[in-house]
Amino acid sequence: MRVIVENDYQSMSRKAALLLASQVNLKPNSVLGLATGSTPEGMYQELVEMYHRGEIDFSEVVTFNLDEYYKLPPENEESYHYYMQENFFKHVNLHPENTNIPRGMVEKVETECWYYEEKIRRAGGIDLQVLGIGSNGHIGFNEPGDRLNVTTKLVELTEETIESNSRFFDSLDKVPRKAISVGMATILKARRIILLASGKNKAEAIKKTINGYVDTRIPSSLLQTHPETTLIIDEEAASLL
Ligand code: F6R
Repeated sequence: MRVIVENDYQSMSRKAALLLASQVNLKPNSVLGLATGSTPEGMYQELVEMYHRGEIDFSEVVTFNLDEYYKLPPENEESYHYYMQENFFKHVNLHPENTNIPRGMVEKVETECWYYEEKIRRAGGIDLQVLGIGSNGHIGFNEPGDRLNVTTKLVELTEETIESNSRFFDSLDKVPRKAISVGMATILKARRIILLASGKNKAEAIKKTINGYVDTRIPSSLLQTHPETTLIIDEEAASLL
């Protein structure tokens, strides 16, 4: 596991965007795994600027997002479909048919999960997976527990995650309690992984990710088993290392 400590949020975002751009410039038809949340917003902004400067071309890129809330319509402003459109997709030359996000409104959720895995497989697997991290160590929405999902599944969010994500919703009871998330093996099969973290509230999770035992109660600790994982974190997130 490689750890890059940057001064602040902005330089963390810039570094992440540079790594992603290198991936796409080296392999224009890269398959990217993407995350949402506050952490990668700066990275998406940097990528949009790079695109406008002609430094990166997404025309052959395929993307798969990690997760989506269950039963939250894509037009809802808190859905991850909406987030990706607003923060990234609508600003660059990705083909809409090359972007994939689990569909939270489906009736047959098991079929959707199976189909999502199949689509990743048919695309040739993920070349570069971008991750954020929950303060409880979740990656994607793989929440701490005695066991973790291997593949894409409908998951129950923990109270901690619901509480943390309520900052985006009008009230706590508006936060969906379930989500569709890719599983741990789906993440660990990516050829390269970059995990971003910023701020003091991520410091404990980062410490346990790097220094602790591999433990399903800290899902991010499983990244220790992956040969090509780079953590890009700011000084606050690194403060307990
Ligand atoms: C988002 C995701 C989550 C977030 C994590 C951190 O697609 O999979 O694991 O990365 O909850 O969220 P922020 O960045 O908002 O602190």
